[in-house]
Amino acid sequence: MKKLTLEQVINKVEDIPALPSVVSEIMALTEDPDSTPQDIEKVVLRDQSLTARVLRLANSAYYGFPRRISTISEATILLGFRAIRSITLSAAVSNVLVRELPGYKMAKGELWRHSQTCAITARHIARKFNIGNSEEIYVAGLLHDIGKVIMSHYIEDDYIEVVNKVISENITFLDAEEEILGFNHAQVGYRIAEKWNLPPDLVEAIAYHHSPEDATLDPHMTCITHIADVITMMMGIGLGVDGMAYSISDYAIDVLDIDTDIDSIIAEVSDIIADESSFSRDDLHF
Ligand SMILES: [Fe+2]
Ligand SMILES: [Fe+2]
Repeated sequence: MKKLTLEQVINKVEDIPALPSVVSEIMALTEDPDSTPQDIEKVVLRDQSLTARVLRLANSAYYGFPRRISTISEATILLGFRAIRSITLSAAVSNVLVRELPGYKMAKGELWRHSQTCAITARHIARKFNIGNSEEIYVAGLLHDIGKVIMSHYIEDDYIEVVNKVISENITFLDAEEEILGFNHAQVGYRIAEKWNLPPDLVEAIAYHHSPEDATLDPHMTCITHIADVITMMMGIGLGVDGMAYSISDYAIDVLDIDTDIDSIIAEVSDIIADESSFSRDDLHF
């Protein structure tokens, strides 16, 4: 196969859809301190499945409100603007993330499970250690591997070569991607996130989830995304072909200054994802 440059790949990205206008509007509204829950409600109500999803999550055991929440404005007040934003983005990307990725040997739904688990783990770490904004970090966890959706097409033909390089040279899958193809899935993810006009700290977390020491805007968000990703792989969720080739960066542990009791984080996250309603697998349209 003729080798393409990163630029050519990004320009060919017709199958990464533009974010629906509802998503961009919600992103803008939730950034604006003058917005009201009624403004948010008006936009959310234009999308039936998003409306259902917000209400289902607001009433899930995860948030644990004692009474039934029946309107979007009420859910917005109780969950907060940022939670509404992460729910909206996650609904918008689920169709893209759910695809099969032959280049990574990931079955349909596997990247979605990996991304959801990473997002939930990242949010859990942020809350547990009281670092950063947990809803924003959730979105970073959800989108960190978005570049794989595109990379999968290009890596398929060179797959054996990439795997051999990982084994024979004992390098990471990411470095092997870069050496064989000229770019890696984190760089492609970075370009998709830019194309979607996501906030710069989020773009950075996607770009550097495998090299957290490169983050400058919000190192905490990137470091948590990195750790949550490795933990998700340690849990065996959405490993794909490259899953075993990564380890937790000591730098990330140092920056966050957290006690690295990974086993207890894994146990806590397992409890959270056991609650089906917070995992929202029922949103998948297979
Ligand atoms: Fe990755
Ligand atoms: Fe990942």
